[in-house]
Amino acid sequence: MAVNGLIRTHYCGDVRASDIEKEVTLFGWVQNWRDHGGVIFIDLKDREGLVQIVFDPSVNEENHKVASKLRSQYCIGVKGTVRHRPEGTVNENLKTGEVEVVVKELKIFSESDILPFQVEEYVNVSEEVRLKYRYLDLRKPRMQRNLITRYKAAFAVRKYLDTQGFIDIETPILTKSTPEGARDFLVPSRLSQGKFYALPQSPQLFKQLLMISGFDRYYQITKCFRDEDLRADRQPEFTQIDLEMSFVSEEDVMEITEGILKSIFKETIGIDIKPPFKRIKYKEAMERFGSDKPDMRFGLELKNLTDIAKQTKFKVFNTVANSGGLVYGLNAAGCIDFSRKEIDDLTEFVSIYGAKGLAWIKVKENELQSPIVKFFTKDEMDKILKALDAKAGDLLFFVADKPKVVYDSLGALRLEIAKKLKLADENEFNFIWVTDFPLFEFNEDENRFEAMHHPFTSPIEDDLQYLNSDPARVKARAYDITLNGVEIGGGSIRIHRSDVQEKMFRALNISDEDAKIKFGFLIDALKFGAPPHGGIALGLDRIMTLILKEESIRDVIAFPKTQKGVCMLTDAPSDVEVKQLNELSIKVIKKK
Ligand code: AMO
Ligand code: AMP
Repeated sequence: MAVNGLIRTHYCGDVRASDIEKEVTLFGWVQNWRDHGGVIFIDLKDREGLVQIVFDPSVNEENHKVASKLRSQYCIGVKGTVRHRPEGTVNENLKTGEVEVVVKELKIFSESDILPFQVEEYVNVSEEVRLKYRYLDLRKPRMQRNLITRYKAAFAVRKYLDTQGFIDIETPILTKSTPEGARDFLVPSRLSQGKFYALPQSPQLFKQLLMISGFDRYYQITKCFRDEDLRADRQPEFTQIDLEMSFVSEEDVMEITEGILKSIFKETIGIDIKPPFKRIKYKEAMERFGSDKPDMRFGLELKNLTDIAKQTKFKVFNTVANSGGLVYGLNAAGCIDFSRKEIDDLTEFVSIYGAKGLAWIKVKENELQSPIVKFFTKDEMDKILKALDAKAGDLLFFVADKPKVVYDSLGALRLEIAKKLKLADENEFNFIWVTDFPLFEFNEDENRFEAMHHPFTSPIEDDLQYLNSDPARVKARAYDITLNGVEIGGGSIRIHRSDVQEKMFRALNISDEDAKIKFGFLIDALKFGAPPHGGIALGLDRIMTLILKEESIRDVIAFPKTQKGVCMLTDAPSDVEVKQLNELSIKVIKKK
């Protein structure tokens, strides 16, 4: 650690009272600059924190002169003596707050231009600007904490999985499409003109092949690539803790996953989480919370009113209820004071999820206030109030629609109201396993069944017989893990028989020929003594976002992309040379 004859003795953030009277050498960045009657005080900062350094003209006049030229974010090295801060100037909030370093020697390594934004904490600046100057943004203590904590998490995972006999094996990035439900990023091949690699949406197929190869327990902390619409918890490239195990049941994979999460929480924020985590079946999660990733830190559960609705005169309700739809209610207890505007906003909000309306009732001491009560008899209304456990002061909401719309809209409304009322304990980490998923999901736009997870997920043994005759009733050996209502991981026991895999492709309407072109290598591999196997992948970025209590996944990634998939720093994606395109036989037609 020697620069210009200076040898670092400490990180700035590591100087302590026990170092008093010692000579120390520090490297870092100038944070704050104060001149108190001729004596210059500077906070010198590195990744471990900051320490106050002092330039006193009576100690070294030359140094003091140079120090007066220092500005924010200059990179410097100093040698000096540690002393106790004068009475009354001790800063209890700072690890180094008891001491200061009186500088004897100063070297300026680099000056800094005028900054696009202050690098101190709490400076309000747009995210685009932060991302453009990410290297400065990452100097902020909060961002340094985030990335260092992320490293600790990844290291904890490696340590734990090593004790469990897992082997880290890399899998290709230039590969063939693996269907995880998103669009592929494609990479054109120069050597095979007109052909494309796909970047992996996950290592799914390779990890299964590694089980067939006999590695028994594989893991990898690896990038996955998905071209999908981005949100606060989605990036086009993100990191999975990906694992696969041979000769296991659901329970084995869940136990290892809980072990991983336990070590992450312990070694990042020192919290002892307590597995085994609660479990809920998919159907129950949908019916009670309108979501397959239920936030169970609070109640506010949905209630099924379809049977009652079938009997009523209110056309909106009974038509839906009698034609295969659902009518559900939600009791926003104590919310009678919501204004007309707030209710209108919530109606607008549920329309995003396809709800055609949001019926409501305000429950007063002796009357009901609502645009819909007039459509019900007293007896019908009593049943509804009872089902929703309504008391004076409550505000009841209702949606009647296709099941998907009812669950999506009321599930989202539940979260929205919980947010308004601050029902969730911010400090709780509520892990839930969701199990018993259907194997398929019906895609109405394309009028066909799709795999709810991916096409390599095993059906439960008893449902195998319905794979082609009645796909909707087939359950999957799949499990998701959620934390505070965020899906942080998902996995399954896989199909390990080639005949079942072929049946699965047929159920998905993939022709035998297509299956052979796309997944022939897997079907073949399954014919050579494939062990029963299963696994899971955890979303590391999402886990870190929750641990660090950040709003956005971008705050736990060193160089993330914007919602539009752009890297503000490098300007990727960008134009390329015509020569490069010619080599690939690619012509770009720009749409207006
Ligand atoms: P899945 O598609 O559920 O499973 O992905 C696993 C986990 O990865 C995280 N994740 C994402 N994080 C950030 N940005 C994204 N765009 C994104 N997409 C997914 C989520 C998710 O739970 N091969 C299977 C796993 C298996 O079956 O073993 C898979 O990829 O937290
Ligand atoms: P209308 O008879 O269409 O004026 O609707 C009366 C009330 O029922 C209004 O408050 C609407 O928001 C609500 N409403 C209409 N359609 C639905 C629906 N599908 N589900 C729930 N409420 C609805």
